[in-house]
Amino acid sequence: MDFVKYETKEHYAILTIDRPKALNALNSQVLEEIDTVIDAIDLMDIRCLIITGAGNKSFVAGADIAEMANLTQRTGEQFGRKGSAVFRKIARLPIPVIAAVNGYALGGGCELSLCCDIRIASENARFGQPEVTLGITPGFGGTQRLARIIGTGKAKEMLYTGRTIDAHEAHRLLLVNNVYSSDELMPAAEKLAATIAANAPIAVQNTKCAVNEGKQVDIDSALTIEAHYFGNCFETQDQMEGMKAFLEHRQHEDFTNN
Ligand code: CAA
Repeated sequence: MDFVKYETKEHYAILTIDRPKALNALNSQVLEEIDTVIDAIDLMDIRCLIITGAGNKSFVAGADIAEMANLTQRTGEQFGRKGSAVFRKIARLPIPVIAAVNGYALGGGCELSLCCDIRIASENARFGQPEVTLGITPGFGGTQRLARIIGTGKAKEMLYTGRTIDAHEAHRLLLVNNVYSSDELMPAAEKLAATIAANAPIAVQNTKCAVNEGKQVDIDSALTIEAHYFGNCFETQDQMEGMKAFLEHRQHEDFTNN
C-alpha cells in the first residue's frame, strides 16, 4: 500500500488516505487500495471503521484532476463507476463507518464522507462539490447522496454553485454531527468508534441495515423491515447476555458478536 494506511485498535479500525503531495486526492491507485483494505477488514473483530485523511490540511481534495484531465466519455464513465463501486462498498459495509473530516472534503472527498454513516469534522474542514467549476458533474455519488442527507434545495445550491462551506455551516446543515478542534478530532472519532464497538455488534449491524433499507421504501414496508432485523437479534448470545445482565442488575459481559 502506497497511499492507504490501516490500523486496528480494540474492535475498531482507522483507514487513513495518505497522499500528501496531492492533498490526498483519489487517483485509480488510491481507489484500488481503499477497495483492497475494505475487502480485508476482519468483520468478526472490527465493529466500527473510521476513515480520515493524513495531515491537518485535507481529508480528501477530490478525485485526481490530473488523471481525469484526458479522459474520454467512455473512460470518464468507467472512472466514475470505479469510484462509485468503492464508495458503495463502504456504504454497504455491515459495520458503522465514521468520516473524521480533517480539512478539505471536496468533490470525491465530500462524496467519500457522504457514503459514511456519520461525519464529524475539524474546525478547518471545508465541504463542497466544485465539479461544475471543472466542467464535470460529481461522479462518485455526490448528485445522489448529498440531497438525501441535507435536502434537495441546499444540495442543488452546493452542486450548481460549486461553493464550499465551512465546518460550522456543514454542522448547521446536519451534514456533520459535530465540529472539533484539529487536535480533538481523532480522539473524538475514536471515542465514538469505541462506544459503538462496545455495543452488541449484531444489534448495531442490524440497526444499520434497518435504517438504510427502511429509508428506501414506504413507512409500512420500512416497519416490516425493522421487525425483521429486530427479530433477527433474538437468540443471539449477546441478546441473551444483555437482557440477563439487566435483569440481574449487573454489567453485561463483553459482547462477543455471537
Ligand atoms: N487532484 C489532483 N491534485 C490535486 C487535487 C486534486 N483534486 N487537489 C489538490 N491537488 C494538488 C495540487 O495540484 C497541488 O499539487 P502541485 O503542488 O504539484 O501543483 C497540491 O495538491 C497542493 O494543492 P494546492 O497548491 O492547490 O493547495 P492550496 O492550499 O492552494 O489549495 C485546494 C487547496 C483549495 C484544495 C485546491 O488544491 C483545490 O481546489 N483542489 C481541487 C479541489 C477540487 O476541485 N476537487 C474536485 C475534483 S473533481 C471530483 O472530485 C470529481 C468526482 O466527483 C469524482
